[in-house]
Amino acid sequence: MILPSARADGKLARLLAENAGIHLDLGGGAHPQRGFINIDIRELPEVDIVHDLQVIPWPLPDACASRVMASHLVEHISPAGGVFIRFMNEVWRVTKPGGEFMISMPYGLSPGFVQDPTHCNPCNEATWAYFDPLHQSRLWEIYKPRPWYYRYVSFDPMWNMEVLLIRHNEDSQLWEKERTEWGPMNFA
Ligand SMILES: C[S@@+](CC[C@H](N)C(=O)[O-])C[C@H]1O[C@@H](n2cnc3c(N)ncnc32)[C@H](O)[C@@H]1O
Repeated sequence: MILPSARADGKLARLLAENAGIHLDLGGGAHPQRGFINIDIRELPEVDIVHDLQVIPWPLPDACASRVMASHLVEHISPAGGVFIRFMNEVWRVTKPGGEFMISMPYGLSPGFVQDPTHCNPCNEATWAYFDPLHQSRLWEIYKPRPWYYRYVSFDPMWNMEVLLIRHNEDSQLWEKERTEWGPMNFA
């Protein structure tokens, strides 16, 4: 394992040793979620691990997180050259099977998306179907990324989108059973 910043070592090592599943805030910046390990490209007092999330691998072991949050981060991850798909596959790697990945971001091409000159990755409610192998659209078949269950989305095309993905096991024979256990997909 690559060690993160010295400041995070003690806290992170203790949480990893407990193996209960850390809570990880991707791009938490100066306002991380309370109780989450904050990994961000900027060296701020609130950041536990300074790392560019477009650089794979991240300095975290496999399946260490039970909950991952990305609040207003995904719109900064480049879709060019497969970077965003590799980012999604890296979230899958560090998440435990059955773990949750929560995304909050401006809806693609909404005023909040367009206004920021660093936003490069417009997503909408169909984007997440590309990551769900059992989604009726069959969009997953195009790139075959690591498998997620697209559990929930709520969005306003002029405002924000909130998404919940649940991390499938690698074994495709388990996917139908997991999906049944986790309940029906929900569009709010
Ligand atoms: C709009 S701020 C959101 C901060 C916080 N999550 C919130 O909701 O208030 C975006 C954050 O993502 C971080 N960020 C952007 N690109 C990144 C990258 N490639 N790797 C790591 N962090 C990144 C920025 O440094 C910044 O802290």
